[in-house]
Amino acid sequence: MKVLLLSSSYNSMCQRIHRELCLLGFDLSIELSSDPMVMREHRDRFSPDIIVAPFLKHRIPNDVWLHTICLIVHPGVYGDGGPSSLDWAILNNEKVWGVTLLQANQNLDGGKVWNSQNFTMRLSNKSNIYRREVVAVASKLVKDSVLFFQKNRTAKPFTPQSVDASKVGWKPYMKQSVRKINWQSDSASSIVAKINCADSSPGVLGQIAGVDCYFYGAFLDKKSSQAVNAGELLGHREEAIQIACKDGSVWIKQLKLANSYDNDQERAFKLPAMRALSNSALELNLAPITSKRKREIHAKVVGEIAYLYFDCYNGALNTEQCINFLAEYRQLTQDSSIKVIVLMGGEEFWCNGIHLNCIENAPQPSKESWRNINAINLIAEAVITTTDKLTVAALRNNAGAGGAILALGCDYVIARDGIILNPHYQLMGLPGSEFSTYTLPKRVGDIRAKKLLNDCLPLIASEALDIELVDRVFSENWNGYHRQLNSFCRELASREDFSNLLAQKKQARHEDELIKPLLTYASSELKKMKEVFNDANSSYHLLRYRFVHKIADRQTPNRLVSDVDKVYYHEQLARLSS
Ligand code: COA
Repeated sequence: MKVLLLSSSYNSMCQRIHRELCLLGFDLSIELSSDPMVMREHRDRFSPDIIVAPFLKHRIPNDVWLHTICLIVHPGVYGDGGPSSLDWAILNNEKVWGVTLLQANQNLDGGKVWNSQNFTMRLSNKSNIYRREVVAVASKLVKDSVLFFQKNRTAKPFTPQSVDASKVGWKPYMKQSVRKINWQSDSASSIVAKINCADSSPGVLGQIAGVDCYFYGAFLDKKSSQAVNAGELLGHREEAIQIACKDGSVWIKQLKLANSYDNDQERAFKLPAMRALSNSALELNLAPITSKRKREIHAKVVGEIAYLYFDCYNGALNTEQCINFLAEYRQLTQDSSIKVIVLMGGEEFWCNGIHLNCIENAPQPSKESWRNINAINLIAEAVITTTDKLTVAALRNNAGAGGAILALGCDYVIARDGIILNPHYQLMGLPGSEFSTYTLPKRVGDIRAKKLLNDCLPLIASEALDIELVDRVFSENWNGYHRQLNSFCRELASREDFSNLLAQKKQARHEDELIKPLLTYASSELKKMKEVFNDANSSYHLLRYRFVHKIADRQTPNRLVSDVDKVYYHEQLARLSS
């Protein structure tokens, strides 16, 4: 059966639903264009049995939904509607929220309901709840409904449920006026909720010492300072800033300057807060705060197991974060009481590799790319060469590019069910590093490694397990995953043959080193990376610019369309170039 996905971008929701439906044996094609003509043409060419819209910001043309059943994923409870559903749910402190699968009709979010399921809300930002709870529930609803459709389409047609008019709760787009922070009257927790419900997009527009900017990555600190007024800056730790509130304080990790359209400047993008402020005319003399609470890179040692967290915004590691990461990691390797080191990643992503925004912001992006790649490579090297402890990559969340490859240097890679891995670099025009030429083929073999790197497609955890890219998949449920992970690590640390395991590991590393030294892998990977960085015309510089500035592809990438469509695009290209 053929399924066409209409989506505004190939985001984590679309990636998950794409892979899940492929695994069920459906023939998939994807259209990312918002142009009604293009959507129509794709439908006509591919002739899908059903259309699913995992993440659609625009309308489906009438003749498309009238002709083919279109199921729309709406991140809201039964009866809810509107473009800011999750934003309102977070701001209103809803305890339970949900996902609903609607059949498209002439009214936005007004169609009949095919399926709906609720989940318990937790204190976090919008994109985190979207990636964890909403994606998980949506993929289940879509799978159930598409399978149901397949089974029943020849029998009596399914009659979806009309929404009970008394329960319809269409909420408007949430404007900045609603999001506006009043530092004098808002409590610290309500300020965090305001920032959370706009994170990662569009951010809350506010001011820091008179500079207009959007706030992201907020967290609460109960500590307050009597000496300053609410709204004033207290200091910074690493690159996050702390702002006083009437009843505590709020930390802000990321800012985006709001007024940089002036003076022919480029449009601003998100940066670590201190870095963003240093781009403004503001002269800040902020005191560093040394408290150890909620540091983004920190270790928690429980008995003989060390859990290393690197909760960096959007999973990107800039040069300084890599240096801090390596220092923390080295400290753990020197502690003889620790037997197992677990790399935990962050709350939202495990890791997405080098920090493309910080590189774009640097005076010389090619130099900064080089610094950043060397810094992350040192982490990869330290992990691979740790022979007196066992290492575990706890892939609790999605990982991409060098971030996904970094995990493969560990002895055990344990994924949470449903997470998405993108272990490839070409979409950013990069040949690849982080010892990918060593660890990737070692796990999946040469042919598969090449395929993963060239196809540039995501894998969900179960696919990664099938090809032994990861060793285990534990529960998708967050707490369930942690319980299983902890008992796995405890068992590992208490194994009677632990010293044998270490001896085998040391021996295997020694043998690998004799076949080809690690340094040789590193130098050939880095040589190619350097050529790309130093070539002002390399596609990397353009692709990075487009990524950071969020410039979407004009056409759905070829790798995402069905074989029928690939032929069509090929012919179209040939026609254009003749
Ligand atoms: N540097 C800076 N920001 C990054 C980043 C990176 N390496 N990787 C992801 N992000 C940011 C995105 O810009 C986006 O920002 P937003 O909060 O303003 O929306 C956010 O993280 C989420 O990324 P998004 O692309 O929307 O998530 P996704 O789930 O659709 O896709 C990836 C995940 C990893 C496939 C995709 O983000 C990606 O290709 N990242 C670049 C990876 C890379 O090439 N790294 C460098 C080589 S090591």
